[in-house]
Amino acid sequence: MLVFVPSHPLVKHWLAVARNKLSPPPVFRSALAELGRLLIYEATAQGDWLPVLEGQAETPCGVADVSFLDPGRPVKVVPILRAGLVLLEEAATVLPSAVTCHVGYVRDESSLEATAYLNKLPASLSADDRILVVDPMLATGGTMVQVLDDIIGRGASPSNIRIVTVVCAPAALQKLSEGYPGLKVYSAMIDAELNDKGYIVPGLGDAGDRAFG
Ligand code: PRP
Repeated sequence: MLVFVPSHPLVKHWLAVARNKLSPPPVFRSALAELGRLLIYEATAQGDWLPVLEGQAETPCGVADVSFLDPGRPVKVVPILRAGLVLLEEAATVLPSAVTCHVGYVRDESSLEATAYLNKLPASLSADDRILVVDPMLATGGTMVQVLDDIIGRGASPSNIRIVTVVCAPAALQKLSEGYPGLKVYSAMIDAELNDKGYIVPGLGDAGDRAFG
């Protein structure tokens, strides 16, 4: 597994806005949306991952060799509700074509176990599908493990799955690195630890509550 932490100053800027406990919900949401746009750009830039076609285009002055996203193989974007939705608000400005497959999980505050309440994944996936899983926080990693196991169980390959997150804890990265060879994680920051309530420290607080109240 590889973890990428982009050094772009804009990523650091919007992370600073998102971390600030004084940022009200609209400001927090727009900071996460900007982070989503920047991190999705990074996550789709590397390693010939996006399916493309080659062709030619007639310009007003001649003919050019061109490459464009294959409309028959759109990326499948999997936001983990609720907070994952906010990272996707600006995603369409980066990805001209994508299919969104919503999943909803909620973590029990005391046991820290996540339970699914929504699943719009297709019945089957193929090893060739490009899948972007989006959730701003990986704390214990329990939620993400459940989502990855579900996606892989439907036929996807871990090496074609990329995770976009904002802050992640070492415990989650450890769990993911043990189970998913070839997985790539794109995160604005790796934070120090979890507190005794399972929150990332310093983290963002409860991103779902901060975004939606
Ligand atoms: C948060 C977060 C992740 C999960 C991380 O969601 O967005 O989905 O917790 O925790 P884990 O790595 O320990 O499983 P939450 O369950 O609070 O739901 P919400 O987005 O609806 O607030």
